[in-house]
Formats: sequence, C-alpha cells, structure tokens
Amino acid sequence: MSWEKNVRKVEPYVAGEQPKDPEIIKLNTNECPYPPSSAVRVAAIQLADHYDRLRLYPDMDATTLVNALSEYYHVDPAKIFVGVGSDDVLAMSFLTFFCGGGSVLFPDITYSFYDVWAELYRIPYVQVPLDEKFELRPQDYISGAGGALDEVVKKTGTEPGGIIFPNPNAPTGVAQPLEQIEEIIKSNPDCVVIVDEAYVDFGAPSALPLIDKYENLLVVQTFSKSRAMAGLRIGCAFGSEKLIGYLKDAKFSFNSYTMNLPAIMLGTAAAKDASYFRDIVSKVVSTREWFKKELTRLGFEFPDSQANFVFARHPQMPGAELFAKLRDKKICVRYFNKPRINDYLRITIGTDAQMRAVVKALEEILG
Ligand SMILES: Cc1ncc(COP(=O)(O)O)c(C=O)c1O
Repeated sequence: MSWEKNVRKVEPYVAGEQPKDPEIIKLNTNECPYPPSSAVRVAAIQLADHYDRLRLYPDMDATTLVNALSEYYHVDPAKIFVGVGSDDVLAMSFLTFFCGGGSVLFPDITYSFYDVWAELYRIPYVQVPLDEKFELRPQDYISGAGGALDEVVKKTGTEPGGIIFPNPNAPTGVAQPLEQIEEIIKSNPDCVVIVDEAYVDFGAPSALPLIDKYENLLVVQTFSKSRAMAGLRIGCAFGSEKLIGYLKDAKFSFNSYTMNLPAIMLGTAAAKDASYFRDIVSKVVSTREWFKKELTRLGFEFPDSQANFVFARHPQMPGAELFAKLRDKKICVRYFNKPRINDYLRITIGTDAQMRAVVKALEEILG
C-alpha cells in the first residue's frame, strides 16, 4: 500500500456524544439549555421567505455579523475575525500563528483539541502541568521565572512558538485572574498568546480590553455556549488589526466562504439581542451556584467553576462508575479517561429541572 506513505495520518479529536434517545438529559457538551433569542427565529423566517438568496455565495467578510459584534463589544471591525465555531477560528489560528518552529505551550489538563491541531499541523508542543488545585502557574509561561517555559528554552534551544489556554479553563472551569494573564502576554512579545474564552461570559474576566495594548494577543470566543447557538457554528476572534489581517490572509488562502448565509444572518440577530444574552447567562449562573451547593452537600469535591459546567469527583466512587450509573438513569455527562482527571465528571449546567433530576439521581446512586 505504497500510497499510504503520502497520507497525513492523524488521531482525531473525539467530540462528546450526541445521544439519539430524546429522553436523555444531555449535559455532556456544555450547550445552553435555553433556546436562542427570539430574534433568531424572526431572522430564520425572513431567510425562509427569501430562500432564493441561497443561490448566491454568502458575504465572505460576514459584514453584518462583524458589525454587530463591533457594536456590542466596542471593537473596530478590522480587529474582528469570524469563523465556523471557535474550533474553526482556533484551527486557523494554530495554522497562522504557531508556525515558527518553536514549541507551543498549553496546560496538561485543557481543551483536548489543542494537541490534535498541533499534531495535525506538525507543530511541536509542551503540555505544562497545572498545579494540584488545577490552577495555571503564571511562572510556567514567563521567561526567567524558573518555570516550564525556561525549561523548554533550555531543552530545545529555541524560544516558545506560542501560548494558548482557555479562561476559564476546560474541563476544570477554573478562571485565572486577569493580571496573571496580562503578565503572560506582556512577557511574551515574540509569540502570539491565544486566550480561548469559550466560557468567559459565565463569570471570568475577559482579556478583550487588552487587545489594544498588546499586538500579540488573540482573544477567541464562541456563540455555542452563552448565545445558545452551537448548532449554527459561529465563533469569533479579537486582536490587533495586524494579527487579524494575518488570520484573514490564512483563511482566504484556505476557504473564502467559511461561514454560510444562515449562520451570518441568524448570528447577526443573536449578537444584536444583548438583553436576552445577559438573561440566559444569568439564569445559567444562578443554577450553577445552586448546583455547587448541592454537590457539596452530597460530598463532591470540585474546583470552583466560573463556566457553564462543574468538574467534580466523589471520594467514594470512581468517576467511570459514577458516569455509567448516571447513564443508566438517562443522564449523560462527560467523562475523560485521562491521567489526573479520571475520577472527575464534567457536568454541564442545564435548566433548574434538569439539575434537580441530576441531584436526585446522585442521591440514589450514592445512597
Ligand atoms: C475551551 C473550548 N474552546 C473551544 C470550543 C469549541 O467550541 P465551538 O467550536 O462550538 O465554538 C470548546 C467546545 O466545547 C471548548 O470547550
């Protein structure tokens, strides 16, 4: 099979299951339990009424969506990039910004797509251990601080090729203070630092205001969680005009029309409805705070989450067993069979009724 030697072989990312049984309470992929804004429904009806527009290619700059984001965040449109979910934006960012040959640094426990993209693009990388509280140690990402970054430089003889981490982190939910994040960005002017803010709206401080101060900062966000639009696939990034320019050059060298017409139209409608967005975020946050108290009452241990999920373990039951028992009760959460976290479950925050059902199931399982 000689042709196979020319094939790019990769071990793909494994996304959370999409169960077919409608009775299952689905809390495994951090989707929003509420529907999108009713403005999205109105936009969908308009699209149906003018479906002939689907004959044409979409606006390759997604201008209405970019402008809506510009208005909401008070960011110049030239500093905004949009894509097919933040996965697309992040994949394009790995391709664009991490190609200098130096190792890219990210935490050992983090979004498990990072190492997949690094492998796909043949980018060297180092997974830096979080501390025992699942917190990121800023000194590991700062030159001369005696941490992981210094070790990488010593070992490879090259400066780091980039840094990426989510804030709050996934799957832990732990948020880092903005001062620490700024310190990391400031100390690494020779590489791009990407802050993946997929869950930032649920309580962490955003690094967005720092894009005007640091040319090497890219902030990536998504409509999949706090805007309840995972099904449409919309992600965005904010950075200096120069940084965004490079990202656009890569995108237009890859696929001009990444975002389709429905995503641009419906995403624009969602971005314009700020009050509904704030409403559903605050509902998820209040359910999360109630759920944390219940988990504590049941004896669970978990790092304090600022995201729309909680990452918890129970000292009396292995994670795999708890996962299977919840599944038997038609509750689907996320389990990662990986070192350091194989006793933890990542439980997405659903509606109050769904979370009451989870608590009841846990009470029954744990006796
Ligand atoms: C940390 C993090 N970043 C990015 C994503 C990708 O989200 P999407 O492609 O739906 O925008 C996820 C999805 O779960 C995530 O957990």
